[in-house]
Amino acid sequence: MATVHSSYSKTAITLHWLIAVLVLGNIVGAVYAEGLPDAERGAVMGIHKSIGITVLALTVWRLVMRLKAGFLALPAHMKGWEIFLARLTHIGFYVLLLLLPLSGWAFAASPERPLVWFDLIPIPDSPLGKAGRGFFHALHGPAAFLALVLVVLHVLGALKHHFLDRDDVLARMLPFLRKNRADA
Ligand code: HEM
Ligand code: HEM
Repeated sequence: MATVHSSYSKTAITLHWLIAVLVLGNIVGAVYAEGLPDAERGAVMGIHKSIGITVLALTVWRLVMRLKAGFLALPAHMKGWEIFLARLTHIGFYVLLLLLPLSGWAFAASPERPLVWFDLIPIPDSPLGKAGRGFFHALHGPAAFLALVLVVLHVLGALKHHFLDRDDVLARMLPFLRKNRADA
């Protein structure tokens, strides 16, 4: 049985914010790159791919920690629909944090354009043929859009906890807020 904790470890908090910044940066970078000339676009997308692979590795780390270390108890005041929405958003994030990099790798890592992580570590080519690549290419953009929808829900949820419910949920991801919480 997984243990229920009352606060996140420093590692869990660091991984949360690092993954959040890298994912949002990758979405902004890819959209920005669309307007660039080919050579510059190629350079930006090279960084995009390496950041994406980094997100994959950090997510696997976070997931292993999460499964081994257990989960956090939710505040007792939360209603059934709030717990459902929070769990759905978190599970949705984990699915997308794996799907986004894996779909990118599946369509973009090819023998014609080998993928080398930050010009340091060669990543194996995707074994997929044209149809499989087409499938994951079509999935990649919508998956990023869905991630953005979840971020909006997630941030609204975090702000509701902090300003309306006045519990410690946001403070356990941002410990510097903790001193303002009577219940933290
Ligand atoms: C955190 C992970 C990732 C996020 C959030 C992300 C997000 C995005 C977004 C928003 C776009 C623009 C929409 C589109 O063109 O479909 C895009 C395009 C692209 N991504 Fe990613 N991506 C991630 C990981 C990866 C990885 C790991 C690779 C390859 C190894 C990759 C390769 C590409 C390529 C080649 C494009 C351009 C597609 C085109 O020109 O049609 N992405 N990505
Ligand atoms: C791309 C951006 C983000 C992603 C992918 C993300 C993902 C996640 C995930 C997966 C969890 C669950 C952690 C666990 O396994 O227990 C979580 C928790 C949390 N996140 Fe985010 N997050 C993002 C951005 C943000 C932002 C911008 C905020 C603040 C406004 C935020 C605040 C929180 C808080 C307060 C929790 C703790 C919830 C709880 O204790 O039940 N996150 N986040």
